[in-house]
Amino acid sequence: MTESVSANIEAKTFTGRFTGAVGLVTGGGSGIGRAVVERFAREGGDVAILDRNGAAAETVASAVREKGRRAVALAADITDPEGVEKAVNRAVEELGPLSVLINNAGAARAQTFSDSTPENWRADVELNLNGAYFVTRAAIPSMVKRGGGAIVCVATVNALVALAEPAYSAGKAGLLQFARQLAVEYGPHNIRANTIIPGSVRTPWWDDRLTREPKLLDALRRWYPVGRVGEAEDLAAAILFLASQEAAFITGTSLTVDGGLTAGMPQFTADIMSAV
Ligand SMILES: NC(=O)c1ccc[n+]([C@@H]2O[C@H](COP(=O)([O-])OP(=O)(O)OC[C@H]3O[C@@H](n4cnc5c(N)ncnc54)[C@H](O)[C@@H]3O)[C@@H](O)[C@H]2O)c1
Repeated sequence: MTESVSANIEAKTFTGRFTGAVGLVTGGGSGIGRAVVERFAREGGDVAILDRNGAAAETVASAVREKGRRAVALAADITDPEGVEKAVNRAVEELGPLSVLINNAGAARAQTFSDSTPENWRADVELNLNGAYFVTRAAIPSMVKRGGGAIVCVATVNALVALAEPAYSAGKAGLLQFARQLAVEYGPHNIRANTIIPGSVRTPWWDDRLTREPKLLDALRRWYPVGRVGEAEDLAAAILFLASQEAAFITGTSLTVDGGLTAGMPQFTADIMSAV
């Protein structure tokens, strides 16, 4: 290791990992995105919050500003390429060139293949895959200009195994390949790209379901080897690790953050063991 690289790694272990960084977080008005925004700002970064819920984005931006960092709320829908481009340009004008992009906004409509229609299938792929493309396309020139950056896409365990919501899952699986392509094509520009694969995370995503089935997330605990579902902060920690200089040699890959959900098949194992 050369001296300058080792000095860099030492510096990277300090808090304030994002001092001087400018981030853009899609879906930053709620849940995982909000936790990412808050942690990024706590660690010294200035941040743009892009969310189709403009009021939620503004609430998060005001909270960041109150803590002394710069923040801008951008009301935009990631499925609208022109709106996205305007929003990203505004972020760059107000905060400077981007160094971190978190493609986090997402949602699922059709629950099963038989529920799916051409309309809801297109809408799910448009939001969960094409939306990340529209935002990245708008953001990457600014990262290139800055001399480098990091992109993290938020997928789901549904990208790995079939767990219903087929169009959402297919779109999210597409993000894994999207990040690999970015990693290869933009590595020479000092831009890294990776994907996070969350299991169930306690966020407003679940609010409607919990109104009908208040114990749902508690019932899911038995599927998680660590004995609980994830919290937004668990995901923010992993996402910002990949976005930080601590992950300087990590690109084109994915990190599963699912409390061990997809590490094995305990029921299958129990059946095999009982048959022995
Ligand atoms: N919560 C979970 O259990 C879970 C599990 C796996 C993956 N994820 C993924 O994590 C990401 C964040 O989920 P969350 O749990 O924080 O959800 P959430 O519903 O709490 O927040 C999602 C945010 O994205 C915004 N958004 C949705 N569509 C948008 C659009 N078209 N344009 C701009 N903003 C839009 C919403 O307004 C909201 O603020 C999603 O991509 C989701 O697929 C969540």
